[in-house]
Amino acid sequence: MNILAFESSCDETAAAVVRDGREILSDCIASQVDIHRIYGGVVPEIASRKHIEAIYALSDEALRRAGLTREDLDAIAVTYAPGLIGAVLVGVNFAKAAALALGLPLIPVHHIRGHIAANYLAYPELEPPFLCLVVSGGHSLIVDVQNYTGFKIMGTTRDDAAGECFDKVARVLGMPYPGGAALDKAAKEGSAGKYKLPVGHVNGSELDMSFSGLKTAALNLIHNAEQKGEALDIPGLCADFSAAVSRTLVPRTMEALRLAGRDKLAIAGGVAANSRIRCDFETACQESGIALYAPPLSLCGDNGAMIGAQAYYEYLAGHTAGQDLNAYATMPLDAAEGYMIR
Ligand code: KG4
Ligand code: ZN
Repeated sequence: MNILAFESSCDETAAAVVRDGREILSDCIASQVDIHRIYGGVVPEIASRKHIEAIYALSDEALRRAGLTREDLDAIAVTYAPGLIGAVLVGVNFAKAAALALGLPLIPVHHIRGHIAANYLAYPELEPPFLCLVVSGGHSLIVDVQNYTGFKIMGTTRDDAAGECFDKVARVLGMPYPGGAALDKAAKEGSAGKYKLPVGHVNGSELDMSFSGLKTAALNLIHNAEQKGEALDIPGLCADFSAAVSRTLVPRTMEALRLAGRDKLAIAGGVAANSRIRCDFETACQESGIALYAPPLSLCGDNGAMIGAQAYYEYLAGHTAGQDLNAYATMPLDAAEGYMIR
């Protein structure tokens, strides 16, 4: 089954063709990062307008690179939630038009389910059940993936998402948006241990996370040094900050694996590209006899292929939509048939 999938929930316009949920025939991304960098973050209206400009050419490009024509397609898929609402609407409307024009089924895909499904593309042998840590610019979730369309959230952040904190600290350090990757790169030049940074705890919810205290502590440390004219060891601070985020994520995820009785861990989302976090999970999983699935960096960030992968399983579960499909800024990951929820 060949699915043409669209993703436009934030600042990447993406179109991909995926076969049977597992094989990437093409994966095209038009990144807007250079434009938003001028403003230090994503400007929603600009994002929507750039999606409108790019999406038609990108869908043609995805078909061309897949070596297919429109007649070879079996379904159209699209991210319909969650995300910047104006941005998501562009993809949803385009996908609806494509499905209508080609007479094909329309498959709505939850963005975070897509991130999890990136693992199906990287690891053909991976099948639910497994545990997944999803860490992106907007989400930090420990999810029990019970089957392809059945999810149980075991832990979540009570305040900021992990990626938000990486971006904020990187921005104050003068790194270009989105700062997570730049901070990661700087951390590799330094060594951890110089700066003491706190790890947040949520009383009574051992699997929930809190990053705002860590973010504030890092920002205060930077501002205090600036005010006193003290030199900062920036690579060292980046290493300590990455280690502190990892100290929040790794123990909670390992505990969730134990509680859920799973022996497979997948990681997903832009922050799953972080080298310190990947390394710490490799060590922890090795020690605990857990099989770790960490997709290549190209599949961690937003892309269209992950939407095409999840779409296949949503289709098999009967989750298709009509021309009244709407877009949603927020949507629970574990909603049984998400698009029905208004
Ligand atoms: O999943 P994603 O591409 O988009 C969202 O759905 O949010 O995640 C983007 C986030 C940004 O906050 C970005 O700074 C962060 O992922 N990120 C990283 C790294 N690469 C991307 N954070 C830490 N280390 C990295 N290597
Ligand atoms: Zn994402």
